[in-house]
Amino acid sequence: MTTATGQGSAPPPGDGPVLAVEDLHVRYGGSHVLQGVSFEVPATGVTALLGRNGVGKTTTLKAIIGLAPRTGRISLRGKDIQGDATPRIIRAGIGYVPEDREVFGGLTVDENLRLVDPDQGVNAPIVGRLFPDLVSRGKQRAGTLSGGQQQMVSLARVLLRETSVLLIDEPTKGLAPKLVTEVADVLAEIAQRTPILLVEQNLPLVRRIADTVVVLDAGQVVHRGGAAELVADQELTRELLGVSMRRDGAA
Ligand SMILES: Nc1ncnc2c1ncn2[C@@H]1O[C@H](COP(=O)(O)OP(=O)(O)O)[C@@H](O)[C@H]1O
Ligand SMILES: [Mg+2]
Repeated sequence: MTTATGQGSAPPPGDGPVLAVEDLHVRYGGSHVLQGVSFEVPATGVTALLGRNGVGKTTTLKAIIGLAPRTGRISLRGKDIQGDATPRIIRAGIGYVPEDREVFGGLTVDENLRLVDPDQGVNAPIVGRLFPDLVSRGKQRAGTLSGGQQQMVSLARVLLRETSVLLIDEPTKGLAPKLVTEVADVLAEIAQRTPILLVEQNLPLVRRIADTVVVLDAGQVVHRGGAAELVADQELTRELLGVSMRRDGAA
């Protein structure tokens, strides 16, 4: 295991993207969910992956890390990974924070973190810096934490390994406005060091922390561009994202 510094590993050679997805297809039985999705994640900042419910955002993240049956080309820092199994892809430097957080409710906060970093757990410097609340709750069972606190455990866990890019799926889903702001602060701080591909329904948050956006619809990429430009264009957001995306609220 690499050291638990929470620092991003070396940037890709030249100015290339950290992650490139080309002609990605995913089929579940008869359902052709992703139909030739192509996009790149730049080596810095936050790239938001947007789209209506059920359009394939989670499937895209799962396909990248090998948890959905896929064809196409996926490269991490210029190296093809589409033929690799999930553990190898994770070791190659992708961190994944799933939609449902997946903390171990019966274990303490510290034990959850020690599954990734057996030596330090909650004492790792990055945890103290970004999640002071978790340090004081180290002995608390994760299942008794609020949704926001569980999200922090899930984020902390992925930061204990050295990664080149993070895939984070709807981290503010179901959170109270104050916690949405806290998660946004943490994501902005993380993105200073490690590029993030972020699935997020909260447009104020996207406007605040994302640089670029990729929008999916009907199994394909239908828009790429600047985050601020998209969020500022009410007609375009309504057309691309429908009414389910949250325009108001905390970030
Ligand atoms: N394991 C699966 N088996 C069959 N269909 C699935 C599976 N996972 C997702 N789907 C379907 O794929 C489509 C995209 O789902 P998903 O990627 O979760 O959408 P999003 O994250 O954009 O809301 C949906 O129609 C969903 O029902
Ligand atoms: Mg989803």
